[in-house]
Amino acid sequence: MLDATSHERVSSTQHTLPNIAEGILVLDENKFITYANEAAETMLGYGTSYTGGSHLIGVPYQRLSAAPLAPLNGAPAKIVEGALRHKNGRWLTVNLTQSHIAPNLPHILVSFTNSAEQLQQEQSLTHTQRLAGLGTLTASIAHELTNPISIITTTCHAILQDMQDKSLNNDQLAQYTQMIERSAWRCIRLTDTLRGYTRQGKLQLAITDFAALVEDALLLVQQQFLKEFNVNICTELDAEHQTIVCDPNRLTQVLVNLLTNARDAMQPAGGQITIRSWFIAPGERDVQLPTVRLPEAITAVGAFAFAIEDSGPGIAPGVIEHIFSPFFTTKRSGAGTGLGLYIAREIVEQHNGRLLAENTLHAGARFIVLLPQQ
Ligand SMILES: Nc1ncnc2c1ncn2[C@@H]1O[C@H](COP(=O)(O)OP(=O)(O)OP(=O)(O)O)[C@@H](O)[C@H]1O
Ligand SMILES: [Mg+2]
Repeated sequence: MLDATSHERVSSTQHTLPNIAEGILVLDENKFITYANEAAETMLGYGTSYTGGSHLIGVPYQRLSAAPLAPLNGAPAKIVEGALRHKNGRWLTVNLTQSHIAPNLPHILVSFTNSAEQLQQEQSLTHTQRLAGLGTLTASIAHELTNPISIITTTCHAILQDMQDKSLNNDQLAQYTQMIERSAWRCIRLTDTLRGYTRQGKLQLAITDFAALVEDALLLVQQQFLKEFNVNICTELDAEHQTIVCDPNRLTQVLVNLLTNARDAMQPAGGQITIRSWFIAPGERDVQLPTVRLPEAITAVGAFAFAIEDSGPGIAPGVIEHIFSPFFTTKRSGAGTGLGLYIAREIVEQHNGRLLAENTLHAGARFIVLLPQQ
């Protein structure tokens, strides 16, 4: 039997639980449910509104789960994948943790989230950002396409003219054809980038030349940055270490997101962006990042590192800890979705890498991507 204070402790915990998005169940010493919050009831199909009385109370836990709870043995709570039975009989895949509700109580608290739903939410976030980014990209690509297309039409016109004048010789024709071919390839590369950007699904890893990847990203933004935003981009790439294994389309998306942020931070005056790359040998401290403690998983194998540095005002104190959260933006309404850095970090982490942000010593912000050697 529980004493009065124990009951009070259980019920005061219960007052704080109804609004949590995770499903929460409290089990007594015999593994019968004594409490279920609204999220648990909804996910398991036992009602959609919380009225105070729960249909799950008194139900033995084993009716919901095929696997018995592992003994706790005082070990720290671990998230495990499991399955809980929905009221309609179907199994729901969940990420589940269990812990003691309080040190001296036999009650067990089981919390769970629906892993399929979580995955769906993450995928739809990625999708939203892709759509928002797509607008910007389409505009840049339309802008960039006008150049090669006008070279193609002008050259065709010149060929026809020279034919009429009977002044077209083989050398000239070869020169014209090369110009058309070069411009057509430029159009193909531009539209390919757009196609790559909209493609979804698993990482498509490829051995990639980082310098070519940067060139692709610059092809999308450089002209527009310079003409419309007075932003100049320069590169200082490590010529010795250029080859990386990555999904080139997604890494281009990371570069474009970071470059766009740097451009925005420097408005209205404009300024300078530097893209730098270097290599961190296995087991070595990184001299370029004296203040950053690199994770063991990266120092052990070595990493390819690159950074986007701008000459803007830097990231304001109080803002820096929020910048990677989805929907966090300091831009005026309609100017930013607040998903750029969230998605960039997600892509880098899909590569087992890290995306870090810091302010540089001479004002400006620096975003660093570390990709462990494969
Ligand atoms: N280079 C930078 N300098 C200063 N602040 C930055 C820089 N990059 C990002 N930030 C800050 O981080 C916030 C979040 O950036 P994020 O890319 O996630 O969203 P956003 O740029 O506001 O919108 P979106 O990228 O979705 O259009 C920005 O609103 C800005 O306050
Ligand atoms: Mg952004």
